[in-house]
Amino acid sequence: MSKPRVLIARRVFPEVVEALSARFEVATNEVDTPWAPEEFARRLAGCQGVLTTIMDRVDEALLAKAPDLKAVANIAVGLNNIDVAACTKRGIRVTNTPGVLNETTADLAWALLMAAARRIAEGDAYVRRGDWKIGFEMEANLGTDVHGATLGIIGMGRIGQAIAKRATGFDMEILYHNRSRIPEADEKRLNATRVERDDLLARSDFVLLMVPYSPAVHHLIGAVEIAKMKRTAILVNTARGGVVDDAALIEALKAGRIAGAAIDVFEGEPKLNAGYLGLRNAVLTPHVGSATRATRLAMCETAAANLTAALEGRAPPNLVNKELA
Ligand code: GLV
Repeated sequence: MSKPRVLIARRVFPEVVEALSARFEVATNEVDTPWAPEEFARRLAGCQGVLTTIMDRVDEALLAKAPDLKAVANIAVGLNNIDVAACTKRGIRVTNTPGVLNETTADLAWALLMAAARRIAEGDAYVRRGDWKIGFEMEANLGTDVHGATLGIIGMGRIGQAIAKRATGFDMEILYHNRSRIPEADEKRLNATRVERDDLLARSDFVLLMVPYSPAVHHLIGAVEIAKMKRTAILVNTARGGVVDDAALIEALKAGRIAGAAIDVFEGEPKLNAGYLGLRNAVLTPHVGSATRATRLAMCETAAANLTAALEGRAPPNLVNKELA
């Protein structure tokens, strides 16, 4: 009997391709640029499973051309590249990779927070440009204290809590806003208090976004919300592009309405609102929350395990459309 066919939509680690190849007939995308929809559909024809990244759109139009598809394993925790409802309707199992990237993404959130607070990217550019001439200037390159400050986290899921855990070493007060309250024991452990969003915006020195994307949180932070923040505050977005209204944030940063921002995710990425480029008070990174070798490998292995289980008739560990369990 011939092996089921699996498509890997982007380049992944060779050991993952090798492991999948033991069970499936595997096709890969060695060019490693996302396929246009027609090309993706052409490659997917006859496949039972697909491994996708956040750049690979799985929507109704694609599914209509993939009648053999049984499982979509996203190599990400976020699912906004996938029309999960459309998959469910067709009986296609969808999985993601929660858990394995929590700590790495929390590390990046902190790297960004610290970089913006202490103006690391600006300082690096200043040194490289040869502007560092005097050696010690009392009022040059002044940043914001992190220790003892108030950190407001919007989205207190697994990653939000991993970020909060790191703040205890900085003696920070944590405010959080989340759909539901986290267990009281975790609030105590993290020194975290649940507050309304406006209260969090008004009181926080750092506002950190870690909500999963859905249309309900599109432009969760725009001009109105930024106006509620302290002028000295810093906004950190490690959630998803579109959670922040980029144009509004750029205007606010230009006007000095808040002190700074550190952004890993952008509306329409990898295209960028050009307004960001001239801003000295913004630290910009190219969606690298989970980008360490160990974590990216763990994500690929998790996705491969999910796909294998789904195609072999076992319950995938990270099934998203639970109605298909
Ligand atoms: C990355 O952004 C992810 O959702 O895993």
